[in-house]
Amino acid sequence: MSKKVYVAPSLLAADFKNLHKEMLILLQNHVKYLHFDVMDGHFVPNLSFGIPLLEALKPHYAFIYDVHLMVANPEFIAFKFVEAGADIITFHVEAMENDKAILKLINDLKKAKVKVGMSVKPNTPVETLAPYLKHLDLVLIMSVEPGFGGQSFMESALVKIAWLKQERDKANYHYVIEVDGGINNETGAFCRAAGADILVAGSYLFGKDDIAERILELRDE
Ligand code: DX5
Ligand code: ZN
Repeated sequence: MSKKVYVAPSLLAADFKNLHKEMLILLQNHVKYLHFDVMDGHFVPNLSFGIPLLEALKPHYAFIYDVHLMVANPEFIAFKFVEAGADIITFHVEAMENDKAILKLINDLKKAKVKVGMSVKPNTPVETLAPYLKHLDLVLIMSVEPGFGGQSFMESALVKIAWLKQERDKANYHYVIEVDGGINNETGAFCRAAGADILVAGSYLFGKDDIAERILELRDE
């Protein structure tokens, strides 16, 4: 039997004019993780949404709020997201000054009782994360350049996923492996085969009449 794979719909692609309806569709389809993309117009060349939206959603929709911080100096803003209801905070290794700052942020987030993830952009070797793996609850592999939805999947992500799985098996680490960008039925299957536990999907799901089937398909149910 294959292991359970989760789908984390990316809020970025939702219809904000019908947000309540969109959230209900996800809950009806037993979606657990809501992927919440935060962009600062600096670390990535785009702006998205932030703390007020998370505060507004959290009391009404029972998701695990999977906050992906695509921001410079995440240590300045991460704890505001924790207060607003984030369940997982993922920050980028490229956004951090040095090793000491990374370890401090991981430690501070743990103290704040939130799950901690780290992410790498497509051009960053996944091995950069090696010193932190033992501390992490989640590792997020970007399979597109962060900043925009609707881009094509980069296959280089698959080797990274397989490496993370191998390292976890070897050392008994506990992180889950998440992949983000260009996920559809085909690329989703590749990611599952490589060892991904959570598939983030935006444009493939939202605005589609058969969203329920698409969610099932990505989960391989
Ligand atoms: C990109 C974001 C993704 C994005 C994925 O910077 O991190 O979460 O919403 O969108 P799709 O699934 O359309 O590639
Ligand atoms: Zn994301």
